[in-house]
Amino acid sequence: MSGIPRIKVYNYGTYFYEHEYSLLDTLEANEIPAPYNCRGGYCGCCKVRLLDGEVEAVQDSLVDLDDDEILTCCCRPVSHIEIELPE
Ligand code: FES
Repeated sequence: MSGIPRIKVYNYGTYFYEHEYSLLDTLEANEIPAPYNCRGGYCGCCKVRLLDGEVEAVQDSLVDLDDDEILTCCCRPVSHIEIELPE
């Protein structure tokens, strides 16, 4: 992929990943009300559904995830992605 990864947040809009540490940091920088608690891969509060695209880990996680789930505090996008926040 070339260019800056695009982050489409279902029901919110489309944003760009700049150079933030994690996907959670990017969501916060764009004032998206993304849930979180520990920011360290322990609690699972930042779990969202990855609808499209790929992410890579920026830190380890101790949370069990389904195939379409990611922790926003533990990853960053490596392609254009689409995610859905929990209701
Ligand atoms: S905020 Fe706790 S696992 Fe991401």
